[in-house]
Amino acid sequence: MADFDYDVLVIGSGPGGYVAAIRAAQLGLKTACAESRETLGGTCLNVGCIPSKAMLHASEYFDAAANGSMAKMGIKVTPELDLGTMHAQRRDAVKGLTGGIEFLFKKNKVAWLKGRASFEDAHTVTVAGQKVTAKNIVIATGSSVTPLPGVEVDEKIVVSSTGALELEKVPAHMVVIGGGVIGLELGSVWRRLGAKVTCVEFLDQILPGMDGDVRREANKIFKKQGIEFKLSTKVTGVTVDGGKATVTLEPAKGGDAETLEADCVLVSIGRKPNTDGLGLDKIGLETNQRGQIETDHEFRTKVDGVWAVGDVIPGPMLAHKAEDEGIAVAENIAGLTGIVNHDVIPSVVYTLPEIAGVGLTEEQAKEKGEIKVGKFPMLANSRAKTNHEPDGFVKVISDAKSDRVLGVWCIASVAGTMIAQAAQAMEFGATSEDVAYTCHAHPTHSEALKEAAMAVQGKPIHI
Ligand code: FAD
Ligand code: NAI
Repeated sequence: MADFDYDVLVIGSGPGGYVAAIRAAQLGLKTACAESRETLGGTCLNVGCIPSKAMLHASEYFDAAANGSMAKMGIKVTPELDLGTMHAQRRDAVKGLTGGIEFLFKKNKVAWLKGRASFEDAHTVTVAGQKVTAKNIVIATGSSVTPLPGVEVDEKIVVSSTGALELEKVPAHMVVIGGGVIGLELGSVWRRLGAKVTCVEFLDQILPGMDGDVRREANKIFKKQGIEFKLSTKVTGVTVDGGKATVTLEPAKGGDAETLEADCVLVSIGRKPNTDGLGLDKIGLETNQRGQIETDHEFRTKVDGVWAVGDVIPGPMLAHKAEDEGIAVAENIAGLTGIVNHDVIPSVVYTLPEIAGVGLTEEQAKEKGEIKVGKFPMLANSRAKTNHEPDGFVKVISDAKSDRVLGVWCIASVAGTMIAQAAQAMEFGATSEDVAYTCHAHPTHSEALKEAAMAVQGKPIHI
């Protein structure tokens, strides 16, 4: 391998890229990772998963103190918001974790090439003016915010998720454009801290891609929490004047326009793959209609020696999906067998309650054949009831003939943790009966999953 500087060069150090680089190095391959940001960890650690969860967690405490749910348990406090400290602990979490990746790179001898990488040919990239060669190049450049035509993001009044994590004061009125994951998570943060939040969603329901029951129930819960929704409505423009924004809306199918005044507008209408400036034309690699790089199931692109993982390729834009692909691509490069089962990728919305799902929605499952469905309300789960967390349910969908679990959906305070068990069961090809006959500790929220599986059999105990 003397002809190349590296065996593997990874472009991008997000969850796809840094994990690919570390696993490649662990497998004995000489590895480098190019990153154009000042710190490692990509969108997820710098401006995504981690800082948003830091703000969600802190604002949850504030809300519990402010909305009376702590008082219900005999803890009377009148909270005072210190937004500076809340932001500082968010920055600390990011610093600790991005620094942790730097440590892991050193430990595993992954070279960090600082700068933006661009292809010269299939085995050569330029990074910070230097040509670097590698036998294998992994594109893990991730994604960035989809712009909304007619709406200019200034990251102060009109913000993307990045600006919404950094607001210096709580807006009196925040308009969220897009009722997807970012809109609901970050809308919840600022609602909990005192903002009036109006969410404008183009479709007739929030949370596209999730199970229909979940979407309807989530909408009810968020409404009850105080978020206002304008469904089947599109934003056609935003103007900013004197520190205030005016948002123009109209019915999705056309009709009379109306306006909303806001102190802050969050644009969260999706994310697009990052391929600009990568020089894909120099290696003859084209993107598909959605701007993604297509790969085979081993994560090879059409160009020999060039691989791709994470948000830049098709599939859900999720950190754990990118990480698993990162491990698999490194193993495939090393001549091992790296596999990701894209049918079993859990997704979680980290609101309160959390919303989580894995596998098929009821609608998708019905299209494929006959199914059985079992549902169990959190209201009947002893732990949720004791903790004053009555909202939500667990739903198990299984194949009518084989009873194999096809999908699990839940809304519960700890749904994100509960869904791991469902994913494991599905990976092992479990039936709903297998789940129903697995002993679950009492009292735990997870018993609701067991009961929903028992409901598929028609024999739940507690409802
Ligand atoms: P990224 O993390 O986007 O990393 C790509 C990296 O490549 C970037 O650092 C970029 O600077 C670098 N790069 C790009 N081009 C070049 C180049 N030419 N040269 C050098 N470097 C380059 N997912 C979850 O699963 N759970 C969550 O809770 C969650 N929360 C989120 C919250 C927010 C606000 C956002 C925006 C996203 C969230 N996501 C979450 C999604 C998650 O962040 C992404 O799915 C994940 O980061 C994708 O990983 P990746 O490695 O593909 O790309
Ligand atoms: P999204 O795709 O989840 O939701 C965007 C929403 O905006 C959709 O409901 C869409 O119908 C709506 N929309 C589109 N155009 C519109 C318009 N003009 N007016 C009104 N509504 C419009 O995208 P989002 O929330 O930006 O998140 C991007 C991605 O980031 C997610 O898909 C997810 O993959 C990832 N993410 C994951 C998180 C998690 O796992 N907890 C948290 C945050 C982000």
